Amino acid sequence: MATTSLREGGPALKSPYDFPDSPLSKAVRQPLLLGVFLDLQDRHISDHPTSNSWTFDYNADIVRRADELGFELAFSRTQWLPKGGYDGEASLDAFIALGAMAAVTKNILLISTIHVLYGPLHPLHIAKYGATLDHIAKGRWGINIVTGHRAIEHQMFGWNRIEHDKRYEMAGELFDVVNSLWAETENLTYEGKINQWKLENAWITPKPLFGRPILVNATGSPAGIDFAVKYSDLIFITSPGGANIESALETLPAHIATIRAAAATTGRTVKILINPVIVSRDTADETNAYLRAIVEGMTSEPQNRKFFKNYDSDAHAWRGRKDDTQKQGYNLGGNVEVIGTPGEVVEQLKALHEVGIDGVQMGFYDWKVDLEHFAIKILPLLKEAGLRVD
Ligand SMILES: Cc1cc2nc3c(=O)[nH]c(=O)nc-3n(C[C@H](O)[C@H](O)[C@H](O)COP(=O)(O)O)c2cc1C
Repeated sequence: MATTSLREGGPALKSPYDFPDSPLSKAVRQPLLLGVFLDLQDRHISDHPTSNSWTFDYNADIVRRADELGFELAFSRTQWLPKGGYDGEASLDAFIALGAMAAVTKNILLISTIHVLYGPLHPLHIAKYGATLDHIAKGRWGINIVTGHRAIEHQMFGWNRIEHDKRYEMAGELFDVVNSLWAETENLTYEGKINQWKLENAWITPKPLFGRPILVNATGSPAGIDFAVKYSDLIFITSPGGANIESALETLPAHIATIRAAAATTGRTVKILINPVIVSRDTADETNAYLRAIVEGMTSEPQNRKFFKNYDSDAHAWRGRKDDTQKQGYNLGGNVEVIGTPGEVVEQLKALHEVGIDGVQMGFYDWKVDLEHFAIKILPLLKEAGLRVD
């Protein structure tokens, strides 16, 4: 990991955490960060009806509402699947969609998922697009660095899947260069050692407002954790025990300890996020009825549902789902399932916070309806529990 620009004698690299007034530094003052993990694609988990839509307008409404409610983060996924791969055919690109949301939001951080190795994208493209969005969003924009775990996606771009750990090495060299371009006071010349691009007298302006855009990656593997503690400000983790909350709470402490120990070796700040799906209604009976309706609407086995389609993946992060020694979740789409009355949801979020989770990127079964329930019934209790401060 470079700590100064790759140009000999070049400037030190700074992160948004080095600026106390950066949007990221302000966001992490919350005890528990709140975010939305949007569905910018059709996702059919169950036949139980929802108001959901993959469209930009529907998702922009969700992000505007989350911004009004004081949430800190909005993310989404991007996938590159062949015909028939999505539930329904629509899937917006998260890089463009989250970037565009900068113009319609005020405070929320907007994290665009980008498959940084596909193409390959030239570091100048990432640096220039990133600097532009950084200025439009006034330091609120960032990248979820994805290297691609599915063979079929790499093949779509014209090659066989690059080996798991090599992808992180390539992304490391790429971000040494991109970070250098963002920090540089002079032109940069560099020839890729494990990537095939070259730069000659390369220059990026404007410079990002707070050192560089926010960097994030989602991982559960040693190579991915090593990458995160060197390059990312936020690490998106999964539950090693699968989606059931009890299994998650049992298995997360050791996993989080590993990540914190890795972060201690670089001395960098890396906040830890997880993405629960929240299923809640006012009473236990209503919550159970809602859960039952969703589960009964799952008319085919999980492996036959499109969202869980078994494209070959070498991801480590979801291996816990296959661990039969752990209680399993209902396949509701989140990496942890938080199910219960408002009070029970707060208890479970508190328990996640107590095992070391710094923030939750939430998903909902029926976005507009369930986010409103969260806003009115759950958010005030989170404040009472001290997980949110004004
Ligand atoms: C919450 C979350 C969101 C993710 N979003 C995407 C995505 O949008 N597109 C994608 O190709 N991979 C996505 N991934 C997969 C990761 O980029 C990565 O491939 C996966 O976590 C496996 O990494 P590992 O093998 O280092 O554990 C996501 C993973 C998690 C946990």
